[in-house]
Amino acid sequence: MELSDAEIILPYDYPRIKVVGSFEELVTTPFADGVNAMCWVRQLPGDFGEIVEKLAVGKGITSIDDARLLSLELSAAGRVARDVLLQDQERLRARELQPSLDCINEYLNEIEPELLRTDVQSWHVDSATVEADTYLCTYHGAYSEGLRNDEAMRRVDMPVARAELRQLYGEKDEEGFREFLHEHYLDLHYTPLPHATPFSFGRGNLWRIATEHPGCRVPPCIHRAPATLPGQPLRLLLIS
Ligand SMILES: [Fe+2]
Repeated sequence: MELSDAEIILPYDYPRIKVVGSFEELVTTPFADGVNAMCWVRQLPGDFGEIVEKLAVGKGITSIDDARLLSLELSAAGRVARDVLLQDQERLRARELQPSLDCINEYLNEIEPELLRTDVQSWHVDSATVEADTYLCTYHGAYSEGLRNDEAMRRVDMPVARAELRQLYGEKDEEGFREFLHEHYLDLHYTPLPHATPFSFGRGNLWRIATEHPGCRVPPCIHRAPATLPGQPLRLLLIS
């Protein structure tokens, strides 16, 4: 299920993904006709590896603010990359969004058993109480991944998993069980079907994906963060 660079093909033919040509188009095109992911395909200039190297973050996830980016001593190519990072965040802030630039150094969730996993490396959809979308861009390191809706099933809908969860919950009433699943975010996580072929979000592309929220007209987009293992390039990621 892991994706190597050789397998990274943007599924332009996948009917739920719409490729757009500008930031304006990315943020203004409504999700409709089943489309639940918009991708502004970009070939970004600049050396993002230099940014990651000079940030020199510790293990885990570190949020990088503008001041820290601006304090870096960079080559010309590094400065080009920094301008992209600042501009992307500025664009999103101008839309009343709150982007976060994260550098991820060796992050692997191994705490929960598969049945109870609710971390970002487990296939999931984002949820919101009001209309809201998720924006994602990987500038460096392993790319975020997507899973086609027709190649996945909610974990809580898989008979064996549901029976185990039901046993764990213990109570008899169905309503209480549903609340239990919801409160623990278990109903947001998915399992790929045997024939599933995940796709990569690629490098530098800015994505806007649909979340599960009241009144959403399309199915939410299933996605996950890749594992970031020791010895692998650090990830530099924009998320909003
Ligand atoms: Fe997510």
